[in-house]
Amino acid sequence: MTGDKDSPIIRIAHSIIEEERKKGHKGLADKLNSILSEKLEQSYSKHPTLKVTRGAEFKVPVDRRYRLPLASHVEHENLRHHMILSQEIELKIQRIEKEYMARERLAHYGLKSRKKILLHGYSGCGKSMAAERIAWDLGLPFYRVRFDTIISSYLGESASNLQSLFTSISDYPCVLLLDEFDIIGKRRDAKSSDVGEIHRIVNVLLGLLEEYEGEGILIATTNLEDSIDKALFRRFDDFIEFPKPGEREIYDLLRMTFSALKLEKEIDLQLIAKDMIGLSYAIVAKIATDAAKKSILSMKKQIELEDLQKSMEENISLNK
Ligand SMILES: Nc1ncnc2c1ncn2[C@@H]1O[C@H](COP(=O)(O)OP(=O)(O)O)[C@@H](O)[C@H]1O
Ligand SMILES: [Mg+2]
Repeated sequence: MTGDKDSPIIRIAHSIIEEERKKGHKGLADKLNSILSEKLEQSYSKHPTLKVTRGAEFKVPVDRRYRLPLASHVEHENLRHHMILSQEIELKIQRIEKEYMARERLAHYGLKSRKKILLHGYSGCGKSMAAERIAWDLGLPFYRVRFDTIISSYLGESASNLQSLFTSISDYPCVLLLDEFDIIGKRRDAKSSDVGEIHRIVNVLLGLLEEYEGEGILIATTNLEDSIDKALFRRFDDFIEFPKPGEREIYDLLRMTFSALKLEKEIDLQLIAKDMIGLSYAIVAKIATDAAKKSILSMKKQIELEDLQKSMEENISLNK
């Protein structure tokens, strides 16, 4: 099945569904409709309409000295994408996705889709995951810049490594994640004589970000502990702040993690969620999966409150 919503076969399928609905077979019509939507979604993510405008296949460029790749690829099926987000953040992410899908229509009116995004917020609150989710939803290949390779090679070559990565990727529709990209300005082993060079590399990166007009989406992340330079904002088309989860998001994340498991009736997830306010998504998920694993390993039929509380204590003390 092709993902084209206007293809004849799909129009026929829709008309059959409508006929059944008119006949009063609502249940059947709804069921057929949901099967059709599911198939369309699957075929869309399997056969993304990738178009390499100029140049040939994308080959990840390597560092000149050690021949190590400057970006790593994550397979589509390994992209994390089941996210629980507040309505506000969810809508901002959907806006990026919708604009990307409508980029040609927007271009008709001289408008550009959002394609350079800065995600900022606490560690473990979904910044890297959001980048993966966008690639998942849009069926785009996903690459993460290897800053370790870029800056571990000779300093003098870091800037040209960055340049070659950006040049080769610009015609290739993909999501390129520059995770914790400010790390590049903080090389700890830098000698004082290197400071000027590091400054230059940071400027090269900012220049490349500013100039990027490629076919894909660039997503840069930075953690909240690091104050962001105001000058940075104008290089991006969008900026999203990722907060810690509220009670509702914690509750939903617990429900999602425990969805395949039974809970002892003493467990009141609303209360537990209240107790977890202030923790990051990553810690909430870890507490829940630790408790789930414990109950599976000990062959218990359900998750016990005691195990959940123990997992909470352990993870909270580890993260203080
Ligand atoms: N919004 C979210 N919904 C569900 N799980 C989340 C969310 N944010 C983070 N997580 C969990 O925390 C882990 C770390 O998230 P990540 O995106 O790497 O955080 P960071 O903001 O530090 O980049 C994820 O693998 C996932 O288990
Ligand atoms: Mg991250």
